[in-house]
Amino acid sequence: MTRHALVTGASGGVGRAVVQQLLADGWAVTAQYRSTPGPEAASWWHADFTGTLPPLEMPERLNALIHCAGMCPIGWTEDFDRAVWEETMAVNLHAPVDLTNRLLPALRAAGGHVVYVNSGAGQNTRPQWTVYSASKFAARAWCDGLRGEEPDIRVTSVYPGRIATEMQRRIVGELGEAWEPERFLSPETVADAIVGVLATPGDAQATDLTLRPR
Ligand SMILES: NC(=O)c1ccc[n+]([C@@H]2O[C@H](COP(=O)([O-])OP(=O)(O)OC[C@H]3O[C@@H](n4cnc5c(N)ncnc54)[C@H](OP(=O)(O)O)[C@@H]3O)[C@@H](O)[C@H]2O)c1
Repeated sequence: MTRHALVTGASGGVGRAVVQQLLADGWAVTAQYRSTPGPEAASWWHADFTGTLPPLEMPERLNALIHCAGMCPIGWTEDFDRAVWEETMAVNLHAPVDLTNRLLPALRAAGGHVVYVNSGAGQNTRPQWTVYSASKFAARAWCDGLRGEEPDIRVTSVYPGRIATEMQRRIVGELGEAWEPERFLSPETVADAIVGVLATPGDAQATDLTLRPR
C-alpha cells in the first residue's frame, strides 16, 4: 500500500530535501509551499502560515506529517514588537498545531508519525535568539503533550544544529558572520535522519533526535 506524507516548508531547505527523499522511496507526497512550488512530482498545497489554514484535500490515511516550515527572527528582544512575536508563534507553533489537529483522524487511521523540525534553540537559548527559541521551546512542549495524548501515533522532535540553508545564510549575514556552509549540517543529512526516524520499527518511537555538525 502506498504511504502518504505531508511535508511543510517544502519549497526549500530541509523540507525540499525530505520531499525528494520520500519520493525516491516511493511515498506519495503532499508538499506545502508559501512562495514557489518545487518541480518535484508532489501534490503542491499553497498555504501562508501567518493566516488561517486554507482547505486541504487529503487521503483518509496519513502515514507521516513532517513539519519543516519555520521562521527565525534574529535580534535583541527589546527591538521586537508584538507583531514579530505573533508572526513567529503563528508559523512555528500555531500553524503546525492547527494542521496536526486537522489531520489527526487520518494519522490515527494509519498509525502515523508526526515529525517536528525543532532546533538546538529549542533546547537552549542565548542573546538575540529569544523569540525563535521561545517558539521552539513551546513546540517541544506541544510535541511532548501530543505524544502522551495520542497513543496511536508517534511524535518525534528533531533538534538540528546549524544547517546550510537559506534561513542560515540570512542569519549568518544578520550576525555579521562568515558564510561557511561546510561547517554546517547539509539539508540532505537532516532529511536523511528524518526519513530514518520514519523507519523506526513499530515497537519503538524516537521521541527526540539531536543532530550537531561534526
Ligand atoms: N537552517 C538552520 O540552521 C536550522 C537549524 C535548526 C532548525 N532549523 C529549522 O528547520 C526548519 C527548516 O528550515 P530551513 O533551514 O530548511 O529553512 P528554509 O530553507 O528557509 O525553509 C523554511 C521554509 O519555511 C517556509 N515558511 C517560512 N515562513 C512561512 C510562512 N509564513 N508560511 C508558510 N511557510 C513559511 C518557507 O517557505 P517559502 O520559502 O515558500 O516562503 C520555507 O519553505 C525550520 O523549522 C527551522 O526553524 C533550521
